Amino acid sequence: MLICRSIADCRAAVADLRAQGQTIGMVPTMGFLHAGHMQLVATAQANADAVVVSIFVNPTQFGEGADLAAYPRDEARDLAMLKAAGVAMVFMPDVDTMYLDGDETIVETTRMANMLHGLVRPGHFRGVTTVCARLFNIVTPDIAAFGEKDYQQVQVIKRMVADLHMPLKIVGVPTMREPDGLAMSSRNVRLTPKDRAAAVVLSRALQNAAIAAPTATVADLRKVISDTISSEPNASLQGLDIVEAETLNNIDGGLTGPTAIMISVAFGDILLIDQKVVTP
Ligand code: PAF
Repeated sequence: MLICRSIADCRAAVADLRAQGQTIGMVPTMGFLHAGHMQLVATAQANADAVVVSIFVNPTQFGEGADLAAYPRDEARDLAMLKAAGVAMVFMPDVDTMYLDGDETIVETTRMANMLHGLVRPGHFRGVTTVCARLFNIVTPDIAAFGEKDYQQVQVIKRMVADLHMPLKIVGVPTMREPDGLAMSSRNVRLTPKDRAAAVVLSRALQNAAIAAPTATVADLRKVISDTISSEPNASLQGLDIVEAETLNNIDGGLTGPTAIMISVAFGDILLIDQKVVTP
């Protein structure tokens, strides 16, 4: 497995792979890899001949005051996992490589970046699109895999790729789940055993909404979700967005097509998120 830290080395390695006739799949990450990332790697491998993983903790997507320095890192472990998975190349630039002195170019999906999660994390999606545009420009992948757990991020990236006519396909990878349906997250281990058992209520609420969707209005779906969540005394519904799956536009009244439901639920100070696309 090649490890490239400079843009020139990365471009040379990609050119070598292309010269061997290989297509390139990419998985952009911020490191500290877990099973969800490895699922993205497996998906990229299923869609391309060689896979490039980038590890870059992107400062521009962290809000003011967010502790960038405290972001967990474990380079040795990440590289061992990627090597074992058969990844062809890892691109690990430093901040000065990605953001030049005097840097002033940003990429932003002006509407989608500033709604839903973008309202509580101003500038976050602008940072994500800016870094992904640069990474795609350096690695030039044919496909790139992103986890659907961050549903808005996938839609924002798809919009950017379409708008900028980037010649690559974005593949959304379904959320990995525990056997009981709870979306995998590093936060799950912080739940008390009682809350861990109760946390299945997120996926159950989404499942109930999917069953109701063919005949339901948005108001009905809101009621199904909040009734299901409130069946667990320790669960508190913090966020519920029901939007058009592709555009993220709000919906009033009845569902008109694929609809994304995004929920966040707190158990004490632990916030869990989940999402599902339902069809009327
Ligand atoms: O999802 C992430 O880990 C990051 O937002 C990404 C896509 C690697 C961009 O920094």
